[in-house]
Amino acid sequence: MPNKIVFIQGSPRKKGNTRSVAAIAMEAALEAGSAVTEIDATKLEFKQPGCIGCQKCQASEKFECSIGDEVGRTVATIPQYDAVVMATPLYWWSFSAQLKIFIDRMYSLSKFTDSWEVRSALSGKTLALLATAGGSIENNLELLERQWKNPADILGCRFLSCLFPLVPPEPGAFAKDAEVVEKAREFGRALASAAP
Ligand SMILES: Cc1cc2nc3c(=O)[nH]c(=O)nc-3n(C[C@H](O)[C@H](O)[C@H](O)COP(=O)(O)O)c2cc1C
Repeated sequence: MPNKIVFIQGSPRKKGNTRSVAAIAMEAALEAGSAVTEIDATKLEFKQPGCIGCQKCQASEKFECSIGDEVGRTVATIPQYDAVVMATPLYWWSFSAQLKIFIDRMYSLSKFTDSWEVRSALSGKTLALLATAGGSIENNLELLERQWKNPADILGCRFLSCLFPLVPPEPGAFAKDAEVVEKAREFGRALASAAP
């Protein structure tokens, strides 16, 4: 059985840097035999822009957000995948706001006790980050990486990342560079090795 990978696209730019390298990684994962799905987090409709902290998901046995909108319904599909990739440009040293709305609603996929013990629908899966950044600081993406690795560790997930700092704002040459292509392809192959 092929493993199932979902790329959650967080860049509003359809032909931007992030989606360009994500396309390369997705192609490599497909070639390695994975089933690959894309979710465009920038296009999902929502009743609330993010989690409202109502805690109804924590009181329920279901891994579902209680806000009945497209973001909530889409978040509820995530546990069917073996690897979950957040693909985002670095915005103010963090995820894009569009993607953060989706991530906060993923609170509903884990149950936390008062002492922060956790039972998660994501345990044992691979959580991954694909990110591009344009600033002039080489380690600009470290803070963002930590923001996705910490939840992966707490939820008992394997963590993978593929980071591209110092990228010029206009794609074109960037996503055609041989080193960039190989790095994105290697990431795709690593995702394909996530346990089904
Ligand atoms: C609103 C906004 C905030 C940004 N913040 C940062 C930042 O904090 N650090 C950085 O290195 N680049 C920052 N950038 C640059 C983008 O991360 C970079 O150009 C990225 O490759 C864009 O990806 P995209 O082409 O997929 O949209 C920012 C760009 C925008 C539009």
